[in-house]
Amino acid sequence: MNIDSAISEGLKILTDNLILNPRLDAEILMAKTINKDRNFILLNSKNSLSKNDLHNFYNLIEKRSHGNPVAYLTNSKFFWNSEFFITNDVLIPRPDTELIVENVLRLIKIRNKINILDIGVGSGCILLSILKERKNFYGTGIDISKKCLNITKKNAINLKVSSRLKLYKSDVDKFNFGKYDLIVSNPPYINKHKIKYLERDVAKFEPKLALNGGLDGLLETRKVVKKSSELIKKNGKLILEIGFDQKNKVINLLKREGFYINTIEKDLANNDRCIVSTKI
Ligand SMILES: C[S@@+](CC[C@H](N)C(=O)[O-])C[C@H]1O[C@@H](n2cnc3c(N)ncnc32)[C@H](O)[C@@H]1O
Repeated sequence: MNIDSAISEGLKILTDNLILNPRLDAEILMAKTINKDRNFILLNSKNSLSKNDLHNFYNLIEKRSHGNPVAYLTNSKFFWNSEFFITNDVLIPRPDTELIVENVLRLIKIRNKINILDIGVGSGCILLSILKERKNFYGTGIDISKKCLNITKKNAINLKVSSRLKLYKSDVDKFNFGKYDLIVSNPPYINKHKIKYLERDVAKFEPKLALNGGLDGLLETRKVVKKSSELIKKNGKLILEIGFDQKNKVINLLKREGFYINTIEKDLANNDRCIVSTKI
């Protein structure tokens, strides 16, 4: 069978299973199978596939048809300016989270030896993107999951920033090391009982540890704000991602811990998504 016919078969299976972007997904999974990019596929659609490639392609299509996200099937996701290695142990980096990177780069130009802490570093997408853009910044990432830290480490090596990075496996509550000019965090902020109502791809396949914000969605955010107020330097910035309906509650938490609210940033869907604050 040639590439084109296999993609058409895959497209049909994904369409029958109500996958949202079936053609794009089928093409990406074909590219992964034969280890080429999508351009190659479009330009060489009449090339025939080996039995083995065809088997592997259908295997990926089958997994995708059950909702397994493309990023987990290809072990890859593009975020900010880089490609990140991803497995189902980490949250898939989201375009909305790029708001944190954008704000850091906007607020802090070139200064020497800034120390950044990322609480809940996951794949490393936020912290490593910042380190890649600012060669004189030093990063510390913590996560409660050792598997996440292994992935951050691998990404840091790929992006050539590992000499400026320290990683610790720790619950945010128990971390008491260092003082930071800047703290960033995208904590788990979904109400525990609402996780099952998220899109199937998210609810069934992404790690609960990265989503579960407890009974009111703010369990981990509270810990992050409290810990940040202890570890941040005076006038240091805390940049936090929040749920679309959490703005007022998180502002109150921040004010109680001595933070001044600078701005609330909206995401691509016009939801409040990120709070920039300063420790006073
Ligand atoms: C929403 S994910 C964010 C991952 C990554 N920073 C991103 O933006 O894609 C939250 C991360 O926090 C970690 N985490 C959850 N609870 C934690 C805790 N109590 N202490 C430290 N990290 C925690 C999870 O393992 C997960 O990697």
